[in-house]
Amino acid sequence: MQRNDSHRTCEEDLIHVMGGNHLTGTVAIGGAKNSALKLMAASILTSGTTEVLNVPVISDVTIMAEVLECLGAHVVRGDHRLSIDTAGVDTWETPYELVARMRASVAVLGPLIARFGRAHVAMPGGCRIGSRKLDLHIAGLETIGAVLEIDHGYINAETPNGLHGGSITLEFPSVGATENLMMAAVLADGRTVIDNAAREPEIADLANMLVEMGANIVGQGSPVIEIEGVSELHPVTHRTIGDRIEAGTFLAAGALTGGPVTVVGVDPQNLEVALAKLRRMGCEISLDVDSVTVSRNEPLRPTDVQTLPHPGFPTDLQAQFMVLDSIASGSSIITENVFENRFMLASELVRMGADIRIEGRHALVQGVSGLEGAPVQSTDLRGGAALILAGLIADGETVVSGVEHIDRGYEDYVGKLASLGGMLERR
Ligand code: EPZ
Repeated sequence: MQRNDSHRTCEEDLIHVMGGNHLTGTVAIGGAKNSALKLMAASILTSGTTEVLNVPVISDVTIMAEVLECLGAHVVRGDHRLSIDTAGVDTWETPYELVARMRASVAVLGPLIARFGRAHVAMPGGCRIGSRKLDLHIAGLETIGAVLEIDHGYINAETPNGLHGGSITLEFPSVGATENLMMAAVLADGRTVIDNAAREPEIADLANMLVEMGANIVGQGSPVIEIEGVSELHPVTHRTIGDRIEAGTFLAAGALTGGPVTVVGVDPQNLEVALAKLRRMGCEISLDVDSVTVSRNEPLRPTDVQTLPHPGFPTDLQAQFMVLDSIASGSSIITENVFENRFMLASELVRMGADIRIEGRHALVQGVSGLEGAPVQSTDLRGGAALILAGLIADGETVVSGVEHIDRGYEDYVGKLASLGGMLERR
């Protein structure tokens, strides 16, 4: 693939943020990271050239492209678009070193089993936010005829009698499991029902692309997805939906500094619960077809947050809302129900003067009058992005390290915040 070094990360990079500026203006939102990666994986299901549009320039996309090329595909990167020729895909093995760099590589598991009847995919490790198990993926694939075993850190899958339809009920509406099962079932012989399926907008985006490829799917976005297997799929051109988490991150920036900040390129319906939270915190929200504007003229009101599978409050916005609550005029409780260890940001915010105490799945936040700039470390993608938001409202300079985490999921995060008036630079 042609390498586009604009997203190249130097591990030593630091982001220097000076607090105090008022952010106002409009920012364009890119394609959803958590959809684009799966749309790329779905291209394996057919032989030919699939075009994916509105693809963000982020390092996770580069890694997924490397995974596809490792399988024999040819990936050409255009301007926020990928052409993926999968005619040359001739292996079902994905190497550990690639999967270890990005857990989402496991999204090739379902498509490989569907296309080749087998797969040999490295088990992605856990990550800082949790164990990231795959038991629901494995149990569901076994229900439709796959035989899987874990062998020396690899998932080894075979389908001695081919894939057949089946009835699957997910114990937890896992996004990744729903996606892998959908991508396997589209070429299975018969009808598959996935009950308690994930309802995230990215699931519907993937299902819609599969339908455009010739699949027979109904119920996407609801808890019950029904798939009638077909014999083959054909390549398509599909545009990735806007990234609701990137949008929510910039809306939090507007809410923190007062705004108005407008995000363009996202469906407001995909952010309903987060927008309701911002209103409860004292923000004004106005909507248009593909844009949202936030402003605030009164002190932030402390607001409890409970993360849940969609349509509940998104876990990927929990860190950003912890920053909002940390300067609100009172106490609030943030409960993380989706991942086991997603409060690492708290200790960094405490170093900036926040008053946060962790008790199991709860973060007890006592709002303070302001934060103080400090050197801080990004621990994960969303925590890193949230630390920069904290720096924008802190007194003095905040220096954020671990920038490679942010590059995984945000295209030109520093540039976009600076375009809104943020005082920050990367060096
Ligand atoms: C996707 O992860 C997203 N990543 C995550 O975004 C997001 O936070 C998550 O969905 C929830 O919305 C991508 O799409 C690449 P899950 P995924 O399977 O698919 C447990 C970001 O910041 N579980 O819904 O891994 C699991 O341990 C990232 O962009 C099992 O127990 O999420 C976790 O606690 C972070 N067994 C919970 O379910 C399984 O087989 C949610 O996992 C699978 C999952």
